Amino acid sequence: MPGLDSLARKPFREPWSGAEGYRLFYNENLFLPREYYVELYRRLGDPEDTRFYSDPRNMEARMLLAKHLRIDPEMILLAPGVDALLSIIADAAKVLGWRVSVPWPTYGMYREKLAARRVPFEEPILEDSWRRLPLDRIRGDAVIICSPNNPTGHTYPRDTVEELLDRGYSLVVVDETYADYAGESLLDLVYKYDNLVLLRSFSKAWGLAGARIGAAIGQEKAIAGLEALSDPYGLPLQSRRLLAAALELKHYVEKSIRETVEARERLYRGLEEAGVKPYPSKANFILFESTWAGDLLERLASRGFLLRGFEGPLGAHLRVTVPPSPILEGFLEALKETLEEVEEYYRW
Ligand SMILES: Cc1ncc(COP(=O)(O)O)c(C=O)c1O
Repeated sequence: MPGLDSLARKPFREPWSGAEGYRLFYNENLFLPREYYVELYRRLGDPEDTRFYSDPRNMEARMLLAKHLRIDPEMILLAPGVDALLSIIADAAKVLGWRVSVPWPTYGMYREKLAARRVPFEEPILEDSWRRLPLDRIRGDAVIICSPNNPTGHTYPRDTVEELLDRGYSLVVVDETYADYAGESLLDLVYKYDNLVLLRSFSKAWGLAGARIGAAIGQEKAIAGLEALSDPYGLPLQSRRLLAAALELKHYVEKSIRETVEARERLYRGLEEAGVKPYPSKANFILFESTWAGDLLERLASRGFLLRGFEGPLGAHLRVTVPPSPILEGFLEALKETLEEVEEYYRW
């Protein structure tokens, strides 16, 4: 029998690990003030509570989130990040023998999780400049989509997603990690469709990436199925308390979202003026295209702006997290100068 070594894959590495500069590659919320974090930590409670196991089903945190989302607590499964929920979903696909469709380009972790478990999957290409689901080329038993999509930033129209849900797949996952920035969500559709599961993360708009908090939302039976594959006690006590505190402090988050949306417009216009081709975005990042993407990535990094670069068909693109002023102005200035440098360089 093959051993564990046969499962080994390239280890996950953070881009720019160890580099100095503004982190504009992971779509973290750079607008939340330090005061928010100080307040969160003030609400962590008695340190000695850490001695004990606590509620394996996270009912208190589920109830608080359920109240915030105005849904039933049994429609929520909490786990350490959306990535952990993707592991559970990939496990479910493995156990149930599903084939999965993952329209591409999208968040790379879907592919990683499925490939690591040797779940068969297909990646039909998005149509119309990567904005439209290729409905007739989506095959298999389950589908994973992301809206707003990473890295393109677009959302899918509600009727398109309903068309997908009506096609009778065993599961349609809609990753809404960036929905807080979009001002739109498919949350109400979970009542209508028993094959829909939404994913929400507290890593982006809520600024809690280090606390690892994600939620799957769906009808009770679907959530019970995912829960059976999850770890009781999987979400640390501290993360649950940070979640509870963040919900109490949501005015900070809401303000940061408004500021991000304003800055996103400025960034979009600035990218156009600089002469690259930005994609309209409903998230807290913008994808843009440039013939010089590879050079720009390196040169911007040497000026302290660390962006996300890509390989393959996305190779002429970069993704930048929407930053607050004055980082935004500094970035646009650096981009203009860098473009001039690169154009000059290639003229020879
Ligand atoms: C679309 C998408 N889903 C999920 C995640 C990861 O979320 P979490 O930190 O909750 O695991 C990311 C992070 O970049 C993402 O872009």
